[in-house]
Amino acid sequence: MIGERRNLKYRINWNEAREAILGERFKGPKLRFDPDIKTKTASDFSKRVKEGEYEYGRKTTEIFSGFLDRSAEVLEIGPGPGTVTVPLSKRVKMITAVDLSLKNIAHLEENLREESCDNVDVIHKNWLRTDDEALRGRYDLVFCSHFLWMIPDLEEHLEKMENASKKYCAVVQPAGRGDLVKEVYSQITGREYAGEFEPDGDYFAYVILREWGRLLNVTHFSFTNTMTLEEKVRSTASFIGRFVEVDEDVAKRIRDLILPHADADGTFVETNNVVVMWWETA
Ligand SMILES: C[S@@+](CC[C@H](N)C(=O)[O-])C[C@H]1O[C@@H](n2cnc3c(N)ncnc32)[C@H](O)[C@@H]1O
Repeated sequence: MIGERRNLKYRINWNEAREAILGERFKGPKLRFDPDIKTKTASDFSKRVKEGEYEYGRKTTEIFSGFLDRSAEVLEIGPGPGTVTVPLSKRVKMITAVDLSLKNIAHLEENLREESCDNVDVIHKNWLRTDDEALRGRYDLVFCSHFLWMIPDLEEHLEKMENASKKYCAVVQPAGRGDLVKEVYSQITGREYAGEFEPDGDYFAYVILREWGRLLNVTHFSFTNTMTLEEKVRSTASFIGRFVEVDEDVAKRIRDLILPHADADGTFVETNNVVVMWWETA
């Protein structure tokens, strides 16, 4: 439900910085070294989110369980392969999950089947084209995870989220990027890393929501990911490829740069942080 907003004479000019960041992010990565890269990265992602029995999603679910009960009906925007959807579905009555990627939906459906989750309604749709009238005040919780860079207009997104909620909204967003990808970026582009692919979009949302007068509960957790060498090459290339075309030569340079950082068993283990913000809409 759309709550009243504060009328502020002075507002923080966050828009310019966000637009500049988006300008770089919206250029899709140029990855020429592997014709199957999109299928493989979707499958890598699906594998990664299951690590630690859905550690990222389990920890998010634990936080949500502090204010949600088992009768809750939830709307999730951009569920991907089910990072949060799978563990959360075991703690609520039902989830409606809206995603526009058929590749990710295929992984989501497979993961839901694997975990016997039968209370998730998967909808293949662009969230920005959903009907606000039809969604108004329908869900106990409306949330998105790792989604804030997916949309051009953050205020419109937050407004749509609040519209569909009758009780709570939440934003879950990874915070900070591992050092290795930043080092590879500097080596390959010759430029010092200056936050070009930080995932942290939460602070823009925080400022907007506080300006609207919302009172936010903010917390965080950490989770661990393990990747094989080829998975780490693909993941690193997906960031570097926004700035430099990654052909076979560049992919080889990436491989050579990251290889010395592998653990004794040949894998790459990284612990990252996640910010969770939730607020009452009514
Ligand atoms: C980075 S993934 C995050 C997946 C998952 N929520 C997580 O936390 O790991 C973003 C997801 O949002 C979906 N997406 C991006 N734009 C969207 C839109 N306008 N409407 C619906 N889904 C969208 C993508 O297809 C992708 O599955």
